Amino acid sequence: MPSSLVSTPPLAQRLRGVAGSPVRDLLALLDRPEVVSFAGGLPAPELFDLEGLRAAFDAVLSTPAGRRHLQYAPTEGNRHLRDLVAGRMTDRGLPTAADDLLVTTGSQQALTLVATALLDPGAVVAVEEPTYLAALQCFSLAGARVVPVASDDDGIDPAALAAVLTRERPTLLYLVPTFANPTGRTLTVERRAAVAELAARHGTWVVEDDPYGELRYRGAPVPSLAAQPGAEDRVLHLGSFSKTASPGMRLGWLRAPAGLLRPLTVAKQAADLHTSTIDQAAAAAWLDAVDLDAHVRRLCAAYSERRDAMVAALPGTLPAGSTWSDPDGGMFVWARLPGGVDTAELLPRALAHDVAFVPGAPFFAGTPDRATLRLSFTTNPPAQITEGMARLGRATRS
Ligand SMILES: Cc1ncc(COP(=O)(O)O)c(C=O)c1O
Repeated sequence: MPSSLVSTPPLAQRLRGVAGSPVRDLLALLDRPEVVSFAGGLPAPELFDLEGLRAAFDAVLSTPAGRRHLQYAPTEGNRHLRDLVAGRMTDRGLPTAADDLLVTTGSQQALTLVATALLDPGAVVAVEEPTYLAALQCFSLAGARVVPVASDDDGIDPAALAAVLTRERPTLLYLVPTFANPTGRTLTVERRAAVAELAARHGTWVVEDDPYGELRYRGAPVPSLAAQPGAEDRVLHLGSFSKTASPGMRLGWLRAPAGLLRPLTVAKQAADLHTSTIDQAAAAAWLDAVDLDAHVRRLCAAYSERRDAMVAALPGTLPAGSTWSDPDGGMFVWARLPGGVDTAELLPRALAHDVAFVPGAPFFAGTPDRATLRLSFTTNPPAQITEGMARLGRATRS
């Protein structure tokens, strides 16, 4: 029989209704050098420590002992790297031992492992609205029902959360409490305590996804959600080297309550055996050699200028009556246009003016607010931000 007549089995049920990421699809379209892109949450490539990372790879591969970094390795991750990460987390106010950590292939994999270990099809996941869209994809792929919880400039609203916890009994609450994607908002200290207390009372797991916490440009650091009283056996904390070292290395980590580390490790065994041995070894060598605090200070100094350039340009860019977030850190400004605009319709006009952003709708688990958009300020230097915002202004007026 000709192969074209043989019907192929359908895709797995779990993929139905899971849309592709518009951000990643957009990134694929943006390969035109003339476009100023505020779309992807990309770190500035000129700020990668190219020399330091090259030296770190060189160091771990330059002796015969380096052969072990080309070998299969334990699923839990490189011991020395876990020691270094645990030390840094402890210094930053979240007491952590190497044995509390699982190294992951980016924090995105940590989300998948959490979903695999904790969510049965039909389980309920509560999320702040709007939220990180690849987390929405991940929970949908696990067959979960995602329930939005209202948030405002101070992060998720504890009263709205209490109502959802009572009504929906979610297995898991997912939050980006510090410099959130897409809004740039930070959950206040008071609300962190309230969220930890509510989660403990309702017996809900909490995922604190924290890839941006080190990128603070002003104001005092806020204690981690995982460090709140009552959070020890509730909160899974996700960290990442993507925003401080390099996203291409795909290195993250997961700090979990003791009883969860083993199931999460089993989930990772099935996913990829372990994260790249050589990348972990090089990251550990890089951390040994570099002053990471000084490196992060350099990133923050540059990103702070970029943030300021974008925020300064907003009043002259967006129409009167627009609102936007004023983030203390991270990578994103979240804006809302007046007058029932759909920003997905604005995007082609923006692209025609050689500037890009992400329309806000895909970040919503519930009814989308189509007048919203996300602008990333980290990728471009200030002069290019000013030029890109001028183009965006012309696009909104065209
Ligand atoms: C909130 C959030 N979580 C997780 C990730 C994934 O990061 P990683 O590169 O560590 O997989 C991102 C990436 O942008 C993010 O914004």
